[in-house]
Amino acid sequence: MSLQGIDAVVFGVADMAEAKRFLDDWGLAPVSGANDKLIYRTRDGAEAVVRPKDAADLPPPIEPGNTVRELIWGAANQEELDRTVNTLRDLPGFRIGSDGLPRVTDPNGLSLAFRVSRRTPIVVKPTPNNAPGTHQRVDQRSPIHDQAHPINIGHVVVFANDFAAMRAFYTEKLGFAISDEYPGHGVFTRCQKVGEHHNLFILNRPGKPGINHVAFTVADIHEVIGGGIAMSKKGWKTEIGPGRHPISSAYFWYFENPLAAPLEYYADEDYCTESWQPGTFERKPELFAEWAVAGGIDGTTRRQRPMEDKSGRGHA
Ligand SMILES: [Fe+2]
Repeated sequence: MSLQGIDAVVFGVADMAEAKRFLDDWGLAPVSGANDKLIYRTRDGAEAVVRPKDAADLPPPIEPGNTVRELIWGAANQEELDRTVNTLRDLPGFRIGSDGLPRVTDPNGLSLAFRVSRRTPIVVKPTPNNAPGTHQRVDQRSPIHDQAHPINIGHVVVFANDFAAMRAFYTEKLGFAISDEYPGHGVFTRCQKVGEHHNLFILNRPGKPGINHVAFTVADIHEVIGGGIAMSKKGWKTEIGPGRHPISSAYFWYFENPLAAPLEYYADEDYCTESWQPGTFERKPELFAEWAVAGGIDGTTRRQRPMEDKSGRGHA
């Protein structure tokens, strides 16, 4: 099986107007603005689809509240899709939806659909760096972004009710490669043997399946920072960031939002081939973030937002 990546994420939300306001600010291109269905596209054509959470035709939620209701994975062409469908036929919940798309349900209860990808891969050139003796950016200023324009939907992170079953389903049934792992606690997987570090990160959380976050790729750290500051200026609250992950090497910034769990801007993740050596790590905070700003950057002062004092004593 050779899937190209995430073609679409379908969200079920309580407040369509708030979701629309967020996605307009997030920097995606609006395609459809019907009352019961918003469609936004990334630069390469991946879709964020938003529906009212009580829409009768949505797959059931895996957790209460606003959340992801379906992931649509893209195949390169019809032949690849047919090959994928042949490997899916024996999986739980295999069905052909009313829209003609083959579907299965993963061990977490999340609906997965498959289609010929509607994305058009684009070549993005990050800002070149300079260092003494190595001048990759000559006679050219480094950019400052006043808005992010996400390139694709790079990965989704899920909390697994049955971690072993989820790990086996994606690596053995769907053929995802393991990039790195916290044995027994988390596994970073990619749908292509040669590709970005992870499309799906599975975290062990027995009894409480759910979505941890959904991540949108941007060009480089400058777009992470500029896009994040723009969201802050529009009043959206940081969950954590900016910061940098040691595992995957990516820069990140996560925002609370009216669609689901946090949404992330990220850039500069590892790119793996079959020569990549998967690592095993013990889970600890410094492996989530080499460094991170706890509450975002103030859109006006460009300094870290003052930390909220929860001690009741006020600031000295
Ligand atoms: Fe992420």
